[in-house]
Amino acid sequence: MSWNARVARIAPFRVMSLLEIAQAREAAGHDVIHLEIGEPDFATPAPVVTAGRDALDAGQTRYTPAAGLPALREAIAGHYAEHFGAAVDPARILITPGASGALLLASQLLAGRGDRVLMADPNYPCNRHFMALAGAEVDAVPVGPESGWQLDAELVARHWQADTRLAMLATPSNPTGHMLDAGRLAAVADTVKACGGELLVDEIYQGLCYDLPPLSVAATTPDAFVVNSFSKYFGMTGWRLGWLLAPEAAVEPLTRLAQNVFLAASTPAQHAALAAFTPECREILEARRLELGRRRDALLAGLSRLGLAPSLPPQGAFYLWLDVSRVSDDSEAFCRALLEEENVAITPGTDFALAGGEHHVRIAFTTGEARLEEAVSRLERFLARR
Ligand SMILES: Cc1ncc(COP(=O)(O)O)c(C=O)c1O
Repeated sequence: MSWNARVARIAPFRVMSLLEIAQAREAAGHDVIHLEIGEPDFATPAPVVTAGRDALDAGQTRYTPAAGLPALREAIAGHYAEHFGAAVDPARILITPGASGALLLASQLLAGRGDRVLMADPNYPCNRHFMALAGAEVDAVPVGPESGWQLDAELVARHWQADTRLAMLATPSNPTGHMLDAGRLAAVADTVKACGGELLVDEIYQGLCYDLPPLSVAATTPDAFVVNSFSKYFGMTGWRLGWLLAPEAAVEPLTRLAQNVFLAASTPAQHAALAAFTPECREILEARRLELGRRRDALLAGLSRLGLAPSLPPQGAFYLWLDVSRVSDDSEAFCRALLEEENVAITPGTDFALAGGEHHVRIAFTTGEARLEEAVSRLERFLARR
């Protein structure tokens, strides 16, 4: 049999096989500390669960319009106005099955065969893969602490080519947790505009930031494409709900795409998500953000005791990108050995970085402080044997 050649360009997500080994060890009675998957140990907030249950009881199980429930699109627009100072017409918001659904729509609209797409390396691998599936070539630009682990205006200008169509950012970033502030974000947007391209910003970790106030490119660049989700800040990973904010002219073709590729996002999930914007829910979510900030600080304190803390601490998301070159230049072997010897599951950098992934790992601070401290002690023991 022969498959579509584009699929051959899609690398497996290595963290999934690591998770499988971790789960098998757990089933065999080992006490595994999970710091590998991008999903905190919090349940979906109770007001959202109740609203979802009420929607099911009320028979809200039929298709919504392809672009989503009007009330939810309005609630998201209200969220932009209230928290990010962005005036957004609800008609520019399409509700999607997770940010993944939004990325699918945006990549199919913006990146075709022969187009080049600029993004930072390291990045969230699926973002790269969506572009490859659309037929585009990805130019992954190596970034490091000197540009705050992000593309900046100078890098975009330097790497832009005649057939570059799109620049993609993710802020806060997965896997580094680093953010672009409003000034640097606007500078990238101006550069992309001057180059005659489009800007796509993945803001899925928006709201999960610990040093800078949360921000949206929508406040300064109304013609940017913006991906977001209920998965992370709102604690709704398994509900599969996200959104795409698009310039007005793109809404019609995007809606046509949505009608064809998924018809509509989950109806009960959309009704549940309406409760995510209530003050009651906001209070829960903000308490969780503060808890994640404390976890970050505990992990940083532990790593600095081992002399391993990164020079630039993560400002957002729930990830820490750690250089382990002092002890390993094979992050996959490093992660496997740490799991097998000490039952600590973290992710090899090769999942995220085309350059330098072999000596980086990603640690997700998605579990409580005591477990993080225990993980650092196990890491210390592990390193002492190296
Ligand atoms: C940067 C980034 N974008 C998009 C996604 C997709 O998220 P979802 O489809 O759950 O909304 C993830 C998931 O981890 C992510 O880290």
